[in-house]
Amino acid sequence: MTDIREITDLAIDAARGAGEIAMEGFRRDGLRVDLKQDFHDLVTVYDRRCEEHIRERIEERFPGSAIVGEEGGASGEGSLTWHIDPIDGTANFARGMALWAVCIGVALDGEMVSGVVYDPANDQLFWADDRGAFLGDEPLVSRGSEDPRQATVIANFPLPRDLVHFPELALSQFARLSEDYSHYRAIGSSAVSLCWVAAGWADATFSFGANSWDVAAAAFIVRRAGGTYVTYAGGEPQPAERDYENPHYLALIPGARYDLLHDIMREQSRRP
Ligand code: IPD
Ligand code: CA
Ligand code: CA
Repeated sequence: MTDIREITDLAIDAARGAGEIAMEGFRRDGLRVDLKQDFHDLVTVYDRRCEEHIRERIEERFPGSAIVGEEGGASGEGSLTWHIDPIDGTANFARGMALWAVCIGVALDGEMVSGVVYDPANDQLFWADDRGAFLGDEPLVSRGSEDPRQATVIANFPLPRDLVHFPELALSQFARLSEDYSHYRAIGSSAVSLCWVAAGWADATFSFGANSWDVAAAAFIVRRAGGTYVTYAGGEPQPAERDYENPHYLALIPGARYDLLHDIMREQSRRP
């Protein structure tokens, strides 16, 4: 039988180890930053080293796992799948902004069982499994205001990729968000944004075009903390099963009455 708590322990250990490696490069003079797909998409040697460290730890303890990592791609087959983002928020990391995290989400036969998001620069360890969701040893409770006028929404929207298909719509939605919600913020890490919703420090977050490594761990933490996580495709909300594979998501505190955010999800998820 698979012991979920052993999986969580390993994920926490591996994330802490990766966090230590990343901290060696954080705010380091002369840190080299390379481009991946374009000039918005950055990578450093620390992204690669952190992922290698996590992969080694998994392969030692849980050989025969499947791993899906941002830098190393997909490898292996097995009932356990580890979704790894070694540094979520690389653009912040590369500039010295303490808004990035190591993410490890684990699914057993496709169902999420464990999630770890470690923000080493602020020494914050968010994690969840069958015991619930926690920040360190403290239980996480997603909570906030049901009223948009008192709500803080975090999202990197519109990103350049959100301006490809419906640019005018995206800009008008951005204007409505700024007007109708108390505070609108972009912090450059999907995983940290989701964990802040889980912690009740923000009321909602959303994005289009995410990958499983960006969201698998943190979406699970949101749900275990009592928050809502929903994905959209083709203008419709999608079933929860394996929804960490869906690119367009919205996370909310429980009871949120944020019609505009659902409208944005519906309209923007119709992109081809
Ligand atoms: C990025 C961050 C960012 C989100 C991008 C992601 P990375 O991840 O999560 O907040 O808007 O879509 O790619 O590249 O820093 O791992
Ligand atoms: Ca990421
Ligand atoms: Ca990354």
